[in-house]
Amino acid sequence: MLGSKTIIVTGAASGIGAETAALVASLGANVISVDINRPALVVGDFIQADLSDRRSIDRLVAALPSRVDGLANIAGLPPTFPAEAVLRVNLVGLKYLTLQLLSKFSDGASIVNLASLAGLGWREATQSIEASTTLDFDDVPEFCKVHNIEGPRSYFFSKEALIVWTMQNRWTWRDRGIRINAVSPGPVDTPILKDFLETLGARAEEDMATMDRPATPKDIAPVVAFLLSDGARWIRGSNIHADGGMYSHVQCQTHGL
Ligand code: NAI
Repeated sequence: MLGSKTIIVTGAASGIGAETAALVASLGANVISVDINRPALVVGDFIQADLSDRRSIDRLVAALPSRVDGLANIAGLPPTFPAEAVLRVNLVGLKYLTLQLLSKFSDGASIVNLASLAGLGWREATQSIEASTTLDFDDVPEFCKVHNIEGPRSYFFSKEALIVWTMQNRWTWRDRGIRINAVSPGPVDTPILKDFLETLGARAEEDMATMDRPATPKDIAPVVAFLLSDGARWIRGSNIHADGGMYSHVQCQTHGL
């Protein structure tokens, strides 16, 4: 399904990223695994990079091959980390890496952003999201202050803004056939699930109580792999809910349906 494609997977040392790297390699892709930590089991080539740091991303981009057919932006920090770090990794660094790679993307390349059910409230945050359009690494502390982004809000905001950025770029690179989409899981059983339960408290517990089980990385990786494939060519600027029905559940509850 992905034969002869060169695909970069960030966050490849753990959880959803590790599973995605293994799956896309098994589907024939030439994988380049990227993470701040070295994976216990390296899939394809590994390049160490800190995606919260512009210079580290610049070094990564320079080390990548001149032709890239897919980018799975999966690296992310949970809300137990300081708000500024969460915004840098989950939003600013992700966008910067993606934009820096444009000259290396082949025609028809696919970008997949790991968002979250936590981003579902983006409609209530459009003003701050709009203000974050040009947000740079150095401006993050001031931005957090001005927009009251502290504690777990950093995580919600990073995913809300990522979903909006994905939609906004539905046609930006259409002349080259480059697509961008997002995948939004609900709770997934990875090392950061406990961080979510810790920080998001009642809200996360309620979510978990309505679910039959949390997802595993194996429930999410195939969705990412499909979006990376040519079979998904008509999916553009979409946010695919891979959450066992949680998004629909919340919508029906909210609208009394
Ligand atoms: P994980 O903690 O297992 O994996 C995240 C990976 O990102 C780790 O390997 C980590 O080293 C890497 N990373 C963190 N900071 C980095 C940096 N500065 N530079 C490079 N790599 C860095 O977490 P998981 O659950 O696999 O999360 C993957 C993505 O899925 C994240 O974006 C997360 O927000 C999202 N997600 C996770 C959910 C969950 O319940 N686990 C639910 C919804 C979305």
